[in-house]
Amino acid sequence: TIDVETAGSGATIDDSMYGVFFEDINQAADGGIYAELVQNRSFEYEAADNPGYTPKTGWDTGGTAEVRDDDGRLNARNRHYLALGAGASATNGGFRTGIAVEEGKTYDFSLWARADGDAPLEISLADGDGALGAAQKVTASGKWAKYEAAFTADRTSATGRLTVKAGGTPAAVDMVSLFPRDTYKGRANGLRKDLAEKVEALDPGFLRFPGGCLVNTGSHQGYDEGSGWERKRSYQWKDTIGPVETRATNANFWGYNQSYGLGYYEYFQFAEDIGAMPLPVVPALVTGCGQNKATDDPELLKRHIQDTLDLIEFANGPATSEWGAKRAEMGHPEPFGLTHLGVGNEENLPDEFMARFKEFRAAIEAKHPDITVVSNSGPDDSGTVFDRAWQLNRDNDVAMVDEHYYNSPRWFLENNNRYDSYDRNGPKVFLGEYASQGNTFGNALAEAAYMTGLERNADVVKLASYAPLLAGEGTVQWEPDMIWFDNTRSWGSANYEMQKLFMTSTGDQVVPSKASGTPATSGPITGAVGLSTWATSAAYDDVRVTGADGGELLADDFAAGDGKWTQATGAGSWAVQDGAYVQSDEAAENTLVTAGDTGWHDYDLKVKATKKSG
Ligand code: AHR
Repeated sequence: TIDVETAGSGATIDDSMYGVFFEDINQAADGGIYAELVQNRSFEYEAADNPGYTPKTGWDTGGTAEVRDDDGRLNARNRHYLALGAGASATNGGFRTGIAVEEGKTYDFSLWARADGDAPLEISLADGDGALGAAQKVTASGKWAKYEAAFTADRTSATGRLTVKAGGTPAAVDMVSLFPRDTYKGRANGLRKDLAEKVEALDPGFLRFPGGCLVNTGSHQGYDEGSGWERKRSYQWKDTIGPVETRATNANFWGYNQSYGLGYYEYFQFAEDIGAMPLPVVPALVTGCGQNKATDDPELLKRHIQDTLDLIEFANGPATSEWGAKRAEMGHPEPFGLTHLGVGNEENLPDEFMARFKEFRAAIEAKHPDITVVSNSGPDDSGTVFDRAWQLNRDNDVAMVDEHYYNSPRWFLENNNRYDSYDRNGPKVFLGEYASQGNTFGNALAEAAYMTGLERNADVVKLASYAPLLAGEGTVQWEPDMIWFDNTRSWGSANYEMQKLFMTSTGDQVVPSKASGTPATSGPITGAVGLSTWATSAAYDDVRVTGADGGELLADDFAAGDGKWTQATGAGSWAVQDGAYVQSDEAAENTLVTAGDTGWHDYDLKVKATKKSG
């Protein structure tokens, strides 16, 4: 029986409640939604980004082709360039399997080059079966200048390679680029259409960007401002605007290089294009994501606070203001209408974070009292850091707190009432990241059940976004993810479809209702109920086993079972839920998955589960 209160005394649901969180993780930007097809276009990859990188990563060269870092460079923020000797060539294999082109479509090529005298350069696009379009020619001459050409693909291929070949005169080249002309909304330096359209189809109320862990820390090593042109700078928005050839690339927290071709201007533009409120997050100068470091450099803090004020001017200031003028120069004289801004992400040191957050907030509110400055509750959904962070957020009258959690589907089912008891007079909640651990229909269903709890509490939970948003097949640091892609295709997970249902048919007001007489589940569940084993990337010693049933499992004497989810920590270890009786064809459970193993495996695991009630 369902009793519905027709008086309409439930919470009002804002149109902006459900949004998306974009982070450059899983190669979501370069090699993902950013439509550039050339990998390492500016020869800036370095071991600081990833120990396996060199400035020639992504390239094969023939003849005399040297990467140089000297005064002959393109500009001070673009350090390396490729010096091609007479007859030398450089071939780029794109991201993952190669450069994908579609028959009949046009691809815009450009490069910057410099030469003493006239240096003809032949540009060709081919795969193992031969040319993919007519070869092009540009002639570089004199100082650094940009040269352009266009290809029309006469075949479809996912394994294309782009070659630049010098003729009889040596030439220096940089920023070698190839874009499909058919980008999302046809924008230059634009986004991959299929991916952007999948995000748009969610009808997001907001777009949180650019992270995540990548905001505060430039690398896994932790907080490091870097000096000079060292890598590992935190994500600083000013590095990401202006002409792409002047955007200094940086190490990404997730272990690769980020070109910043998708930068703050493009993020704001994308938010506008999909009708979402932009919600940028700036570094708070306290590390999060497992690191414990806070800056004690007041000048640095001052600079970051000023950068944040400048960011607001970039987004909202008139075209005549210093930073508004930069936005206008890039093509958007009208303001972007920024109303919310996050400071920090998952800081482990709540007291240090709050001290710095308050300085950011005071400076922002003094100039822009209408901007909502969003704080956070640290990395966990409960525990000492979480409690302390919330205490500080409450004590300091914070307007909105960003919470993050990734839990089992069972947790989501059991915690539907999480926000029922939140203080109605305290800070509002921005559930900036959440997901149950899997991409099965069962996971999506658990999330849907949970979202009914978010909506019931829409007076407190003002914003919510599933995370992460995108994952490139074969370049995954974190899963599950909402939308998956390879070089030619993209597909939404079950979780994506569930999000889409909620996001495209969001109600205006909660109508309180109560169900009674719910039939009890009875009878034993026997046989295989399905487990998904999940080995994460080399970056994590984190292996989990998820019961797909989501029901309460009886404890048995399986070795690691202690009635709780266990996260594996050591090499070769793994975890079980609730000590469920697990039979494996493999005798030694510790050898099932080795930490650091990045592949998918199928195991013949059987679970015998009996509901407690049964
Ligand atoms: O969404 C993936 C990561 O999860 C985010 O970068 C971080 O904020 C959280 O720990």
